[in-house]
Amino acid sequence: MTDHLTGENWWREGVIYQIYPRSFQDTNGDGIGDLQGIIDRLDYLNDGTDDSLGVDGIWLSPTFPSPMKDFGYDVSDYLDVHPDFGDLATMDRLIAECHKRGLRLMLDFVPNHSSDQHPWFIESRSSLTNPKRDWYYWREPKPDGTPPNNWIAVFGGPTWTYDETTGQYYLHSFLAEQPDLNWRNPEVVAAMHGVLRFWLRRGVDGFRIDVMGMVLKHPELADNPPNPKWVPGDRTRLQLLRTNMQNYPDVYDAVKGIRAVIDEFHGAAVVGETSGTFAEIGRFYGGDELDGLHLAFNFHFINQREPVITAWDAVRLNQIISDAEATVPAGAQPCYAFNNHDRPRIASRLDHDGHGQERARAAALLLLGLRGTPFLYYGEEIGMGDVDIPEHMLQDPARIRTEGRDPERTPMQWDATAGRGFTTGSPWLPFGDEAITVAAQTADPASMLSLYRRVLRFRKSSPALMRGALRMLDAGADVVAFVRELDGEAPVLVALNTALEPRSVKVGAGFTRVALSTDPSIEARFNGGACILPPLAAVYIL
Ligand code: GLC
Ligand code: CA
Repeated sequence: MTDHLTGENWWREGVIYQIYPRSFQDTNGDGIGDLQGIIDRLDYLNDGTDDSLGVDGIWLSPTFPSPMKDFGYDVSDYLDVHPDFGDLATMDRLIAECHKRGLRLMLDFVPNHSSDQHPWFIESRSSLTNPKRDWYYWREPKPDGTPPNNWIAVFGGPTWTYDETTGQYYLHSFLAEQPDLNWRNPEVVAAMHGVLRFWLRRGVDGFRIDVMGMVLKHPELADNPPNPKWVPGDRTRLQLLRTNMQNYPDVYDAVKGIRAVIDEFHGAAVVGETSGTFAEIGRFYGGDELDGLHLAFNFHFINQREPVITAWDAVRLNQIISDAEATVPAGAQPCYAFNNHDRPRIASRLDHDGHGQERARAAALLLLGLRGTPFLYYGEEIGMGDVDIPEHMLQDPARIRTEGRDPERTPMQWDATAGRGFTTGSPWLPFGDEAITVAAQTADPASMLSLYRRVLRFRKSSPALMRGALRMLDAGADVVAFVRELDGEAPVLVALNTALEPRSVKVGAGFTRVALSTDPSIEARFNGGACILPPLAAVYIL
């Protein structure tokens, strides 16, 4: 294996690329991406030369058998591959092909709920006395026939569905087709730990864990309290706090149980989808012993509820960085992303004034300059934006009560041909702007793709960026600036201007030249103790 990172620290020093398997590369013309397609595109991600993107690992959104009510986040068999994507043999080949290139492979582990078509749930719902009854949450209706508590599902509506067969309700934090597994039942825990071992034995390097913080709930499933910040007109599903269904104190014990399984396998790692306050996210690392998750996602940069205006504001960005730094335990590091399969893409999200692409460029330097493990989302490296989907082509069932997620899940745009190099058939979701493709950007030094390649390469060449501490600077209004420093290594100053006018950044004596920037004109304007940053630009200074 060509190992460009220091062995088992891949998850600490590497850059991980999230693939939404349905949308990366189709090889059989059915319009749906597949594992063979990912294998065929691995050289694009990392072929060991400067021509490839240069990432270190891949996280695949779920690839397991599933009725696809939530596009794979409703798993009906944790130990196999959905036929749309391939089979176990294709997965084994994907693992081997990744490892040949020094790429790590993380699968998506969905512990909170299965599909209602999983044999466990089919058994569980069949009778009050079925041995699997307690593998899920079944409760009597209230005397008036209403659901057992007031919880609101993440996708809206009650978290409870009444089942005629036994006259009880079952709990689902998401869609009714996604019943919650009961992690207070040791048999469930053992079965789910077995799932982790099954894939780790096959050679995967770890997992992204879906909604980690919801796995354990209040033992009595007590009502959730009202959200004091909610005002009429806000989304009804945010009317209650999630106090008794998310980040409940003993969820951290479930995390430690998972970690113990992961530790049976040398070099494996887990990153959790975690939400809540900074302190809550920090706790997922397991405190001083660091016996929790290796990494816990911090989504504060992409919080959908944030008005666009404050989302790209230096005060806000500086605050997120310092809060995250202050709340991860010593020896751990934050984990950030600007895009994923659940949120509008940054190039569109921050495009209210037509400057989305510029902000996306600056975000690349920010993300890869921060102390933490960066996660990129396929297509981000070419500046893909959200795609307007005609009503009749919408797919995401969660859209019924929430903003749908189809716009950020459209196929990867490899070239400008009719099938975008993605498929020879008709794609499961429509394509975006035909001007935004890998082919068009490969040879263009000014393209987003070239920028990402440069930044990824620079990061890899800089021990301070990969491993150094982070010190915030007070560099002036509308400026985010920090220094990454490591004993005996050249420090790197990362700075960005969030304003639409130029800003002067105080950089201090030691820093003398712009090593990398979003805007090639910056080099000429750099002088001594200050650097003039053009509107929305970002730089690395040595
Ligand atoms: C996570 C996933 C999302 C999914 C949900 C339920 O938030 O990222 O896509 O719908 O969990 O599994
Ligand atoms: Ca296919």
